[in-house]
Amino acid sequence: MDVKTIVGNMTLEEKAGLCSGADFWNTKAVERLGIPQMMVSDGPHGLRKQDDSGDHVGINESIKAVCFPPGVTIASSFDPELIHDVGAALGESAQAENLGVILGPAVNIKRSPLCGRNFEYLSEDPYLSAEMATALIKGIQSQGVGTSIKHYLANNQEHRRLTSDSVIDERTLREIYLPTFEKAVKEAQPWTVMCSYNRINGVYASENHRFLTEILRDEWGFEGFVISDWGAVNDRVKGIEAGLDLEMPGSFGTNDAKIVEAVQSGELDENLLDKAVGNILRIVDKWAASRNKQAVFDLEAQHEKARKAAGESMVLLKNDGTLPLRKGAKIAFIGGFAEKPRFQGGGSSHINTFRHSTALHAVEKLFGVNVVYAKGYSLTDDSVDNELLTEAKAVAESSDVAVIFAGLPDSYESEGYDRTHMNLPESHTRLIEEICQAHSDTVVVLHNGSPVEMPWIDSVDAVLEAYLGGQAVGEAVVDILFGAVNPSGKLAETFPLKLEDNPSYLYYQGEKDVVEYREGVFVGYRYYDAKKMKVLFPFGHGLSYTEFSYTNLTIGAEKITDSETVTVSVDITNTGNVAGKEVVQLYAAPSKGDAIRPVKELKGFEKVFLNPGETKTVSFTLNKRSFAYFNMAINDWFVESGKYGIEIGSSSQDIRLTGTVGLESAQELPVTYTMNSLVGDILKVPEKAASIGEIIEPMKKVFGHDEAAGRETAAEAITAEMIEAMLNYMPLRNLVSFGNGMVTFEKLEEILKKLNQQ
Ligand code: BGC
Repeated sequence: MDVKTIVGNMTLEEKAGLCSGADFWNTKAVERLGIPQMMVSDGPHGLRKQDDSGDHVGINESIKAVCFPPGVTIASSFDPELIHDVGAALGESAQAENLGVILGPAVNIKRSPLCGRNFEYLSEDPYLSAEMATALIKGIQSQGVGTSIKHYLANNQEHRRLTSDSVIDERTLREIYLPTFEKAVKEAQPWTVMCSYNRINGVYASENHRFLTEILRDEWGFEGFVISDWGAVNDRVKGIEAGLDLEMPGSFGTNDAKIVEAVQSGELDENLLDKAVGNILRIVDKWAASRNKQAVFDLEAQHEKARKAAGESMVLLKNDGTLPLRKGAKIAFIGGFAEKPRFQGGGSSHINTFRHSTALHAVEKLFGVNVVYAKGYSLTDDSVDNELLTEAKAVAESSDVAVIFAGLPDSYESEGYDRTHMNLPESHTRLIEEICQAHSDTVVVLHNGSPVEMPWIDSVDAVLEAYLGGQAVGEAVVDILFGAVNPSGKLAETFPLKLEDNPSYLYYQGEKDVVEYREGVFVGYRYYDAKKMKVLFPFGHGLSYTEFSYTNLTIGAEKITDSETVTVSVDITNTGNVAGKEVVQLYAAPSKGDAIRPVKELKGFEKVFLNPGETKTVSFTLNKRSFAYFNMAINDWFVESGKYGIEIGSSSQDIRLTGTVGLESAQELPVTYTMNSLVGDILKVPEKAASIGEIIEPMKKVFGHDEAAGRETAAEAITAEMIEAMLNYMPLRNLVSFGNGMVTFEKLEEILKKLNQQ
C-alpha cells in the first residue's frame, strides 16, 4: 500500500472517519481505495473476540478460547522466554481468528495492592515489568499480529478512572511509570499503544502531546498508532493535535464531524490529520500483508501451554516440609475453590474458556489420589456457614494433611473498581484458623489476583500462592502440591504485613479527581527496604523443593565510566536432591550521594534450571542505566560518581553475595554560582575550592577556630564541627556580614566571575 498516495486520494470526511472505529472492535474500511477493515480484541492473556454485540467490560459472550495465566501470575515466572512462548500462542490464535491486534499487554505499575486491575498488571518493579512486557509483545508479534501496550499512562487505580488526574513529578514518571512503555517501544515496537482514561498532571492522556508525541514518538521512536482506551476521548480535535490516532469505539460520527469542522475552520492543521491516518494505514497494511489464512490453533495444545506457564509461575511462599505431599497420605481438600477455582479476573480481560480444570478433578486424574473433600464455605456468600465449617473440621481431623483452598471471590477484585481492604472473606479466614486448630499439617492454596493479609500465617505449614492460574489451574496446582513440578515462581510484588504499610496508603485514590503520587519513586520494595520495614513476603521471594548455593561473585571491573559496561557473574549450584529452577536476582545499590534514592533496585534477573549437584554460571551486563537516576537539572539520566553495591540474591531480602563497582561520571551537572551558592558546595568541587580558599581560611579564625594552634579559641561549646557546618551552609553573600570586614561584595563579584568562567 502506498500510504502517502492513498492519504492524498482520501476526502477530508474519509480521513476523519478513519480515525474512529466502525463499531466496537473494527477499524473502518474504505472500499474504493482498497483499505480493509481490521479487527482488534482483548487481551491480554487470551482472546475475547466478540461479535457485533460487543462491550468493553466483559459482559457479553465471546468466542471459546484459552485463558493463560493473567499478568500477576505469569510475571511471577520471572521468565521472559516463557512469556514469549505464551505470546506466540496468543498471536497464533489471533491469526486464526482473523484479528489484527490483541489489546495487551497491560503494564501499569502496582502502586497499591488495592488497584482492581492488579491481576492483569505485571509488577511493582519497572525493570521486571519492562522485561516481561517486551518479551510478550515480541512473542505475539512474531505471528504477524499486533499488540496494544496499555494503559499509557499512570492508570494505577480504577476509582474514578475516567476523570482522575495522576499528579506525578517528572523523576518519578521517568523512573517508575514510563520505563515499561519505554523499553517495549524501543525494543519491540508494539503496533499500537493504548492511551489511558485518566489525566496526567492535568491533561487527559488522550490529548497529551507531551506523552503521545514528544516522549512516545520523538524520544522513543514509536512507529505504530495510538488507540484510545474505550471511551477515553475527551476532546477529539485536541487528541488529533496531541497524537491520538484512533478513537475507539467511535462516537457515531460526532467526533469525526468535529475533526472535519476544525480542519475547515483552520483550527486544526490538516497535516496532523494526515499523519494520524498514515499511522493507522501503515499498521492496517502491515497486518494485511502478514495475514495467514491457513492459521489454525490447537485448543488442547494451548491448554497444556497454559498449564506449564501456571506451574512455572505459582509461588511457594512458605513450606516447613509438608510439601510436596506424599501420595500415600490421607489427604483432605477443603474449600470451594478446590472444585470451582477462581482462575481469572473480571472485566474486559475475561475469557470465555473452552474448558478449565479443578484441583479436585486433577488430583485423581493425574495422580490417582482419592482425596476427601469438604466445601468449607459458601461460594456465594462471604459470611461463615457453621454447618460447612463443622463438616470441614471433621474431614480434616480424619486426614493426615489438610489442603485448604482459599482466596478472593470475583466480586473482590475486578476492572472498574478498587478493593477497599486486603482481607480474605471472613468465611475463608475462619476456615483456615479453625482447620489449623483441628489439624497439625495444614497447607493453604491461595487464588487471588493481588496480595492479601495473612493473620494466620504462623499457624499453617505451607502456603502456595497460586494467584489466578488461568484455565489449567487445577493441574498446575496439583503438579506443584505433589512435586511433579518444582515451584519456581517469585513474587513480582511485595506482600506487606498490612495495607497501612503500603507507601501510597495515605494518598491512594486521592481527593475527588486529584491523585497525588506523593511517595514518589518509593514504590513497593523501594519503600519497604528504605524504611527497613518488616513485610509478610518480600519482592522476589519464592521457595523451591530444592536449595541453591551462590558462590564466586565476579565483577568484571573495579571501576567503569558511565559510557562503559561491566559484567557480573555468579555461580549457582543446586545443592538439594531434586531438579529445580532458581531466579537469580541482581540489585544495584547506590551509595549515598546528592540524590535521594532507593537503597537498591532490581537491574538484572535470570531463571536457571539445575539438576541436583549441577552448577551454572549466570552473567549480567550492567550499563549506565543500571546505576542512573533521572536528573531534573539536565532532564536526562545521570550517574553520580562513586561506589555502587552489587547485590545478588534469591529475593530482595535474601541477598547471598555482595560486591562493589566504582562509577565515574563523564557528565557534569550544570551549575551556575550566585551570591546564594553555599560555601560547602563550592569547597566540595576540587577545581572550585581554591577560588574561595583565600577568604575562607581567615574566616575560620574569625569564627573562633584556630587550626594552627589546634585549639578552640572561643567558648568550649564552639567546636570545629560546628564552625565547619556554619561555614558550609553559609551563602557567599553572608561572608560580607560575618567576615569581620575582610570580604566585600566587589570581592565576591570577582570570585563569582571566576567560578562561573572555569
Ligand atoms: C479497558 C481496556 C480494554 C478495552 C476494550 C476498556 O474498558 O480499560 O483494557 O482493552 O476496554 O475492551
